[in-house]
Amino acid sequence: MAKRKKNEVLVLGIEATAHTFGVSVLKGKKVLSNERKLFMTEQGGMVPARVADHHVEFCDKVFLAAIKKAKISLWDIDLIAFSNSPGIGHSLRIGAVFSRSLALLLGKPLIPVNHCIAHLEIGRMMTPVDDPVLLYASGANTQVIAFESGKYRVFGETLDIGVGNFLDSFGRALGLGFPAGPKIEELACKGKNLISLPYTVKGMDVSFGGLLTNLKAKIKSGEYSTEDLCLSVQEHVFAMLVEVTERALAHTGKKQVILGGGVACNKRLQEMSRVMCGERGAKSYCPANEFLVDNAAMIAWAGLLKYSAGDKGLLENTGIDPYERTDSVEILYR
Ligand code: ATP
Ligand code: FE2
Repeated sequence: MAKRKKNEVLVLGIEATAHTFGVSVLKGKKVLSNERKLFMTEQGGMVPARVADHHVEFCDKVFLAAIKKAKISLWDIDLIAFSNSPGIGHSLRIGAVFSRSLALLLGKPLIPVNHCIAHLEIGRMMTPVDDPVLLYASGANTQVIAFESGKYRVFGETLDIGVGNFLDSFGRALGLGFPAGPKIEELACKGKNLISLPYTVKGMDVSFGGLLTNLKAKIKSGEYSTEDLCLSVQEHVFAMLVEVTERALAHTGKKQVILGGGVACNKRLQEMSRVMCGERGAKSYCPANEFLVDNAAMIAWAGLLKYSAGDKGLLENTGIDPYERTDSVEILYR
């Protein structure tokens, strides 16, 4: 690779762990482009084979748009990073084949990146946080993560489904399309009455399965307005998340929270985290929405961090791992 300084290196990032196919070009910390195409439906959720078809259909268009917007030539790229874990196998395979083919063609190093860790690293890059507790609230994942003894440790997590998947399933039961989170937020603003719902915090962990069953029964009964249900769901579920985040702050002694994942776009969750932090002399930070949802800029940045710490980007190390755990990844750059 050309001998450029870290802040001059041109990194191409590719994201395809789930519903989003994203391509980004970074010049060091500068985001030159961050393009994405999200699989969406009017009704019903994500069918893995359909998501894969979506990525096949749009990968070239997203890629070309990212290169064009960054105003670079393909041959200027120094380094490629792609999300190889964790995620839906169907999506990961499209991303892996795309990235590996490109790395072969360009003869550039290819760095595999853990998607969950990338959510945290982009927060550290985009905000003044240095050593935060991450509340990672996305579709498939709900984890409270912090750096301890060379690794990102999971202090608490969901025992069943991710909070975003929970919101999407609840939304599906209400007849909202996918993704339902933003529609639930909108409806919640019009809610007036708080309905009492199951609140499941077990130690440092949370769970949503029982709540979902309870909500489906409530929807079927027809006794509650959609707006009140959305309001009440947000109040209960976000309180659960903020409670375990506060415990992780107390346990680690850290003073910063960073939000990550698509659910963190929710203004009410951001507010609750701010209030909790304010009450205990800590501070809550949140990157712009574009970097909270699945995006390729975070993959490019996390790839550059790994590369700077000595990852050679050898093609033989770029297999996919749909089930890789956040705390199984060695972090060599911190
Ligand atoms: P991961 O692979 O990291 O688990 P993901 O693939 O599900 O993430 P994200 O883009 O991080 O993708 O998150 C998508 C989720 O965020 C969806 O479940 C969506 O409903 C939810 N979401 C997006 N915006 C909002 C919002 N304003 N309020 C609540 N939830 C939201
Ligand atoms: Fe994500």
